[in-house]
Amino acid sequence: MTIHIGAKNGDIAETVLMPGDPYRAKWAAENFLKDVRLVNEVRGMLGFTGTWNGHKVSIQGSGMGMPSLSIYANELIRDFGAKTLIRIGSCGAMQDHVAIRDVIIAMTATSLSTPSSGIFKEINFAPCADWSLLRGAVAAAETKGTPTHVGGIYSSDVFYDERPDLTEEMTRHGILGVEMEAAELYNLAARHNIRALAILTVSDHLRTGEALPSDQREKSFGDMVEIALEAAFANQCTQNMACPLNSHGVRSNLDQSSCAL
Ligand code: HPA
Repeated sequence: MTIHIGAKNGDIAETVLMPGDPYRAKWAAENFLKDVRLVNEVRGMLGFTGTWNGHKVSIQGSGMGMPSLSIYANELIRDFGAKTLIRIGSCGAMQDHVAIRDVIIAMTATSLSTPSSGIFKEINFAPCADWSLLRGAVAAAETKGTPTHVGGIYSSDVFYDERPDLTEEMTRHGILGVEMEAAELYNLAARHNIRALAILTVSDHLRTGEALPSDQREKSFGDMVEIALEAAFANQCTQNMACPLNSHGVRSNLDQSSCAL
């Protein structure tokens, strides 16, 4: 048990999907996992554990914004031994060729600041996704035929942004979309040598002003959950499932000490 997660030791899987919204965690667990148990309800930030294709999986809400995500990700990693964290969330599109309902897989996450800025000081650290998860997610999205974009996103500290010039610069530099959590997730994954990825559904469009009506959000969200689950368990070593060295010999960020090859 931690300050913010009321689960017991062993209640949480090494693979955790993290939607911002705790009710999305509930919906995803009920619709995609088997043998689901509620493992956390502290502050209403619901967390569930179940199985997917025989793999143990947890789905824990992160809340909105990097400070909130940082609390849950830190506790999942340090106290519950999480090794793979996949954010599943929404974002605003920043490019004309990105449409509402499209999926964005975040290769990198630019930010103005994150909770880690105090550590990095003058360094402009480049938070990036885990390659094995990124590749698994792209392959899963291609198989499903989901319209998907892979590239950089912007993790903002504010939803109601008073700096339209920043949005313009992000768009000019090819940033696909804006959300509020991924950069710190990637920072924490790098610091603790675990795998992380952010998969996002476009819920609104900063250039056209369109927004996905809430009753249409479920289907797009479901595609994203499936892509995340496929990615989490793709690229596993064929000799030893506990080994993160995948069948093509590309190493992920994980420690290789358990590899039997
Ligand atoms: N801005 C920031 N975060 C978001 C947005 C947005 O437009 N849409 C979904 N998450």
